[in-house]
Amino acid sequence: MKKNILITGGAGFIGSHVVRLFVNKYPEYNIYNLDVLTYAGNLENLTDIDTKENYKFLKGDITDIEFISSIFKKYNFDAVIHLAAESHVDRSITNPMEFINTNIVGTVVLLNAAKDAWKDNFNDKLFYHVSTDEVYGSLGETGFFLETTPYDPKSPYSASKASSDHLVRAYNNTYKMPVVISNCSNNYGSHQFPEKLIPLSINNIKNNKAIPIYGKGDNIRDWLFVNDHARAIDVIFHKGKQGDTYNIGGINEWTNLDLIHKLCDVMDKKLSREAGASRKLITFVTDRAGHDKRYAIDASKLRNELGWEPSLQFEEGIEKTVDWYLENETWVENIVSGDYAKYYDNMYKDR
Ligand code: NAD
Ligand code: TYD
Repeated sequence: MKKNILITGGAGFIGSHVVRLFVNKYPEYNIYNLDVLTYAGNLENLTDIDTKENYKFLKGDITDIEFISSIFKKYNFDAVIHLAAESHVDRSITNPMEFINTNIVGTVVLLNAAKDAWKDNFNDKLFYHVSTDEVYGSLGETGFFLETTPYDPKSPYSASKASSDHLVRAYNNTYKMPVVISNCSNNYGSHQFPEKLIPLSINNIKNNKAIPIYGKGDNIRDWLFVNDHARAIDVIFHKGKQGDTYNIGGINEWTNLDLIHKLCDVMDKKLSREAGASRKLITFVTDRAGHDKRYAIDASKLRNELGWEPSLQFEEGIEKTVDWYLENETWVENIVSGDYAKYYDNMYKDR
């Protein structure tokens, strides 16, 4: 019998990479991609696999109780890989309610539907919850986030993700639902919506527009190539210990300013610009409210127990990413020609 796997948020950035990996690598699985297609969901992310026999798209909202319970009845899912979420910190500062609804309520709706469908026999079932390192809060100059680091989320986004993690663990403890959670650092790569630092900057550099750096640009993030995140999810899904948490990270810390310098230099070469030309676009703007200083993951549990490691260095990953955005102008154009301009004006006009 084929396994039926529900992947939520599969039309988004990371979800589309996970769906692609699973559809191509596991013809023996039926992959159901559930996505409501918010501004961040884009079926163009999946045109290379959307006619495959083991792939089906389901348009729907994870907060819609009736709809979610109906698809659990209809498709007999064996496992859920849950990525659907509101994911942008800046939007969570302007509109926290959407984050509460989608990230917290939506996760409980899915947990309930899975519990109801599986309660007579949890054998061979799994609810895999994809989360973020931001639940651990903000680090000072030293130290790393471990799986045992106490939660201390500081933005509406990270607080909503932390809440959803707690609920997943509560279903494991209370109902014995088999679950696994992973908390990953910042991702970069192809198909990322250009509201996030790297694709936003690539687009602005290309169009000779100012690159907005919050504060002094000295905040630190640990960047992981998105395909490596998808590989980690694959490993944890198949080999992770039920009830456990795994941190995923790139061992790749950059201040925002150093990262943008690097990106400018790569783009100068790709666009045949004079060395240093793109760096002139850097513009320091008002800082993000409550801006977390530093994130850094200790991924040794995942490496030691399950043998996962990042497959490439940042230099290679950033080149691949820039190449993808330059080669996929229509993908970018279709986004920036829509509501994006309005979002951009609102977010950056008073900074
Ligand atoms: P994204 O914003 O690119 O995609 C989110 C997807 O979820 C979109 O396709 C959207 O349409 C869908 N969605 C949103 N609300 C929905 C709803 N109510 N019902 C159904 N679908 C809905 O996000 P991403 O960057 O790909 O992140 C995916 C997951 O990974 C999130 O849970 C996020 O918290 C987590 N994560 C992201 C990062 C990162 O660097 N981007 C790092 C660690 C963890
Ligand atoms: P982002 O890509 O939004 O991810 P996160 O907030 O989840 O880490 O931002 C990455 C870093 O870049 C973060 O420190 C905020 C900063 N940043 C800017 O300086 N300018 C920008 O325009 C954006 C979107 C982010």
